[in-house]
Amino acid sequence: MRKVGIIGGGNVGATCAYQLASRGTADVTLYDILEGVPAGKALDMTQVGPIFGFDGRITGSHDVSILAGSEVVVVTAGFPRKPGMDRMDLLRKNADIAQSAGEAIARHAPDAVVITVTNPLDVMTWVVQQATGFAPERVVGMAGVLDSARLSAFIGMELGCSPKDICAMVLGGHGDTMVPLPRFSTVNGVPITELMSAERVQALSDRTRNGGAEIVKLLGTGSAYYAPGAAAAIMVEAVLNDSDRLLPASAWLTGQYGLKGMYCGVPVHLGKGGVSRILELDLNDAEKAALAASAGTVTKGIAEVQALASA
Ligand code: NAI
Ligand code: 2OP
Repeated sequence: MRKVGIIGGGNVGATCAYQLASRGTADVTLYDILEGVPAGKALDMTQVGPIFGFDGRITGSHDVSILAGSEVVVVTAGFPRKPGMDRMDLLRKNADIAQSAGEAIARHAPDAVVITVTNPLDVMTWVVQQATGFAPERVVGMAGVLDSARLSAFIGMELGCSPKDICAMVLGGHGDTMVPLPRFSTVNGVPITELMSAERVQALSDRTRNGGAEIVKLLGTGSAYYAPGAAAAIMVEAVLNDSDRLLPASAWLTGQYGLKGMYCGVPVHLGKGGVSRILELDLNDAEKAALAASAGTVTKGIAEVQALASA
């Protein structure tokens, strides 16, 4: 059985582990600095096996060496938002955690593909990539799958149609400046711009941008984890199955969309070695400007981490 390592056995990490194990995708190992918690969660999940009928192994430990042999490692270690916090407010708290996660991966799972989830997502993906020393295409960030799923869910709620027929696209950095693309969001091939008024399209795009904060406010403590865990699991499957899926994800840019030297959400082909290609959509001027503005926030975050490191 293939092996997936998850760093951070909190809400997102444990949910992702549960999705992967119950779908029979891989053996899963959960690492967290907390003693007892990852082993306890792993045991609890293992006991679902006889009920749902899956037989993958789920282990958990605060000993980082359990990551050894992982083909994919998902990084979910770090603090989530509290009500009123921006994802960038997490930068100082999570940069050191992302750095240690990257170093642990390089030591214990040197051949793995890495999927980062920790916020602020695009900046932390860069921190993890730098800490691993891996080629940038082997380190990718999860956000676009989640943000696009949120837009799809809102489209389904608006039009009263099945989410199965909806395919939405959200690009940019995972923050308030993310870029929902209504022209590229369809119900069975029909762009939503033909199915609802411009005002409703705008309202759904705004709700998507605010989708994480809406849940943070409702929960009162912590942030979303069911959909984030599922989104990370789907990306893991794309890598393990080498399925060459076209998904929005945070990838290292080398000039695509006129952007370079940062991670940012773009449509990527995801397979065995990570990101094999980046698809360049024919964006209009407004979409290009929105993407450039969003990428600017990532550049600023990277500069902040560099300043912290040299202080
Ligand atoms: P959580 O607080 O439930 O879990 C975080 C876990 O990380 C805790 O169990 C903690 O003990 C562990 N941890 C802390 N430092 C560690 C280290 N050095 N090594 C290993 N484990 C360590 O938080 P949750 O809800 O699971 O969120 C995790 C992160 O994912 C947050 O930064 C959150 O903002 C982010 N997130 C990102 C999303 C995205 O779309 N990219 C979506 C949802 C959450
Ligand atoms: C989300 O979008 C907090 O980034 C996380 O739910």
